Amino acid sequence: MWKKILGIGASKREKDLVALYDRVPKEKRPRHIAIIMDGNGRWAEGKGLIRTAGHRAGVHTLRSILQVCVDLGIEVLTVYAFSTENWKRPRPEVDFLMSLFSEYLEKEIQEMEDNHVRLRFLGREDGMSEALLRQMHGAEDRLAAGDGLQFNIAANYGGQDEILRAVRTLAARAAAGDLAPDAIDAAAFSAALDTAGQPPVDLMIRTSGDLRLSNFLLWQAAYAEFWFTETNWPDFTPEEFVQAIVDFAQRKRRFGGLNPRKGK
Ligand code: FPP
Repeated sequence: MWKKILGIGASKREKDLVALYDRVPKEKRPRHIAIIMDGNGRWAEGKGLIRTAGHRAGVHTLRSILQVCVDLGIEVLTVYAFSTENWKRPRPEVDFLMSLFSEYLEKEIQEMEDNHVRLRFLGREDGMSEALLRQMHGAEDRLAAGDGLQFNIAANYGGQDEILRAVRTLAARAAAGDLAPDAIDAAAFSAALDTAGQPPVDLMIRTSGDLRLSNFLLWQAAYAEFWFTETNWPDFTPEEFVQAIVDFAQRKRRFGGLNPRKGK
């Protein structure tokens, strides 16, 4: 049950997690956390299971991480569920993932609503079925009034594609005389992205050992701190998640400025 951590019935494990997070000074906490949920296939293969079993197990992990974000009061969580390149996977795996997204929305929407989660999908619409798009829009509309966690699901998403779509939008406005080219600054550009109105990514987590960004949130992650783990996504735990936040809080972020140890 969500919010259990803060209420009666919280286990020692849950209380320990909250206590650990509470020790992180408020001004050091990440506002926006992004996760590349990698390693579902490897997890399944390691257990002699078919790859799709890994994706199904990955849904359980996502559920527990979303729950912990709600309980800790994280502002924005973005997860990479399906990239514009993932269409190259075998059709049965793509179809399985699409039906898993649909099943996930159906099962989780009530709990998200009860916990004031606001949902936004990042990415392109073409290629997704009409029925799934209706469900996605319906879920966004139903949760639009949520004033808690902002939860973004990147589905049919690519960072370069998002930037190109924003460029086209701004270029069309400029060509129509609605926007002066000089007015296209970082704020105007950010406002044309799928994450409009949201803070940039502070902490980028990638599971399963690969050390790359894979076309995820290229603009938004400009000054993100990276945290990598060998753990496959289905085995990723709330403990590891909070450990990443604790590690993040100990980093010195300079945003291109001087290293305080070297500066005057
Ligand atoms: C990467 O693992 C994972 C994906 C491409 C899909 C992520 C989807 C989920 C975690 C399912 C839950 C999501 C939602 C929104 C319900 P991989 O298959 O590339 O693993 P591998 O690198 O080991 O092959």
